[in-house]
Order: sequence, then C-alpha cells, then structure tokens
Amino acid sequence: MSHVMVSPIEDARDANAKAVHSDMLAPRFYTTDFAALDKLDVSPVRAEWDVMMAEYEGDNNHDHFQRDAAFADEVAAGMATLSPEMRQEFLDFLVSSLTSEFSGCILYNEIRKNVSNPDIKQLMTYLARDESRHAGFINLSLRDFGLGIDLGNLKQAKKVTFFKPKYIYYATYLSEKIGYARYITIFRQLEKHPEKRFHPIFRWFERWCNDEYRHGESFALLMRAHPHLLQGGNRLWIRFFLLAVYATMYVRDHKRPMLHESMGLDSTTYDFEVFRITTEITQQVFPIALDTDHPAFRAGLKRLFDIDVDMEAAKARGGLVGKLQQGWHAVRAFGTFARLYFMPVIEQDVSREVRLAPRW
Ligand SMILES: [Fe+2]
Ligand SMILES: [Fe+2]
Repeated sequence: MSHVMVSPIEDARDANAKAVHSDMLAPRFYTTDFAALDKLDVSPVRAEWDVMMAEYEGDNNHDHFQRDAAFADEVAAGMATLSPEMRQEFLDFLVSSLTSEFSGCILYNEIRKNVSNPDIKQLMTYLARDESRHAGFINLSLRDFGLGIDLGNLKQAKKVTFFKPKYIYYATYLSEKIGYARYITIFRQLEKHPEKRFHPIFRWFERWCNDEYRHGESFALLMRAHPHLLQGGNRLWIRFFLLAVYATMYVRDHKRPMLHESMGLDSTTYDFEVFRITTEITQQVFPIALDTDHPAFRAGLKRLFDIDVDMEAAKARGGLVGKLQQGWHAVRAFGTFARLYFMPVIEQDVSREVRLAPRW
C-alpha cells in the first residue's frame, strides 16, 4: 500500500499550526448569510420538529462527556503499544476531529447570535452546546500528550469561508450524518474486538455519534420544510456536495492507513461501509444517491488518492518543476472529479416521515 507521511506533530505548536492550517482536505470554518436563516419557517414539519426539540431539551448526554477513573490507565496502557508512526496518525486524527467539531461549534454559535427566529435560535443553542462538549472532550485527550489546542486562538487565526445558506444545509447535513456513520462503524468494530481499542476515547463514540445523528436530523427537517432545496437544479448541488464530502473523506482516510489497520479495519472497506450507511440515511432528504459501489466510482476515488500522493511529492520537490507538476496534478484531479460527478446517480424515493431512527 502506498504510504503518505502526515506532517509530524511534535509539540503543542505543531498541533495548533495543524488546526489553523487550511488546504483542500483540512476541516474549514464557515460563515453564512444569517438574514436568510432568520427567514426559515419550520411550520410544515412542526410536529417532528417539536419532538426533536424535546429530545435536545431532555439532553440525555449531559453527563456523557466526562472521563471516568479508568481513562488515564487505559491511555497509558494503549499508548505504550503504539509505534511512533501510528502515534502520529492518531494525533493527526485527534487534531482534525477536534477542528471539525469546533468548526461546527463556531458556525452554530454565530448563527445563534445573529438570528432572532426563535426556532432557529433554539436549535443553534443546542447544536453549539453539543459541539463544544465534543471539541472540549477531544482537547482533553490532546492535553494528555501536552498538545492541547488553544480554541480562542484557533477561532481568531483560522480562515473563515463564506457559504450560501443552502450550501451550509447540504454540507452540514452530510458532515453530521457521515460523522455518525464514521463513529458508529468504529464503535461497532471495537465492540467486537475490544483488544484493538488502543485508546479509551473510542468507548465514548456510541452516545457521541447519537448527538451527530440528531444534528443531522435537524438539517433534514429544515430542508424538508423547504422542498425547493431538494428539487430541480438543486439536485446538481446535492450531487456536488455528496461527491465533495465522500472524496475528501476517502483521500484523508487513506493518508492514515495504520489508524484503521490497528482497529482491524482497512481504510477502503471502512470508507465504503460509511458511504453505504450514509446513503441509506440520506433517503430521508435526497432524491438521488451516488452509486458508490460501482467499480468505476471506486476506481475514480482511488485515482484521486494517487493524484494526491503525486501532488505531495511535487510540493516536496519544490522549485519550478515542482510548481509545474503541481499544476498538472491539479488538472488531473479536476478531470477525475468531473468524471465522477457525471457518473449516473441512483434515484431514490424520499421517505414519507422525515425522521429516521439510528439503527446502525
Ligand atoms: Fe460533534
Ligand atoms: Fe454535530
């Protein structure tokens, strides 16, 4: 298997720099048009909305994100078994997970502060509450290594990308649901193979991912309350975001092959399982799904990863030749992405009820 070094995290400065860094694959921070969000109207889905709000209000996870007595011992025992390379992949995983949790926290909090629509304000309060718990919990584990992220500084220093509200709905919905699918797949695997659980944080994943699942439900309801978001030309945007989210995840995961191997998972098998679960879930909103099991689709993703490896080599080479090579690899990546985009999609009947119980 081709192997790519993730840039090493030696100290807190590296960890903070990694979190602030922006590139195609790194989690981003977003802002949007708050006035448009203020106009959202949930009355078409009011009954389901109120049930969901009562669940947030009931907050069955208020005591979940605290470490138990066994945590420190498990960290010490598990870390002693990791090779230096594997330790790097795990730290990279923690930093990028924390960055994406915190990205959600900041976006939801900004929306909360900038809208007066009571439904949206209330929802964003709950979402920001949950994401801040998630980010804080990961940060505790980074601090065990002396690598805590300064969240105040991260908020100041990281570049913020503007997204139109509808892009926020598609992208956020997908990242919440794919987050659920990723965490639950790891949790189920380690439930079967507890001897492979090299860090205690994975014991938290089941209840954690139920938060992500519910966050996704909220965006599903918002989109179903505004059906034009799911029809006509917007189908092309849905297709775009499905592919962008899947392709980014595939390339990023294949940069950390050892992390999955150590859990007894293979990055490719893991990713396609996550896509399969995500596709099943998206039936609650999206009229189309990507044919992720099609051999040409799989080959295209693999090609995107191979191009990324070439791109990294060109960057490392530097100079004029390195620059020219980077340009060429960007063209190749664009062509591959476009071919994947135009592959036939699967039409799916959207479920009658929006909400879907997590059963994976
Ligand atoms: Fe989260
Ligand atoms: Fe979330």
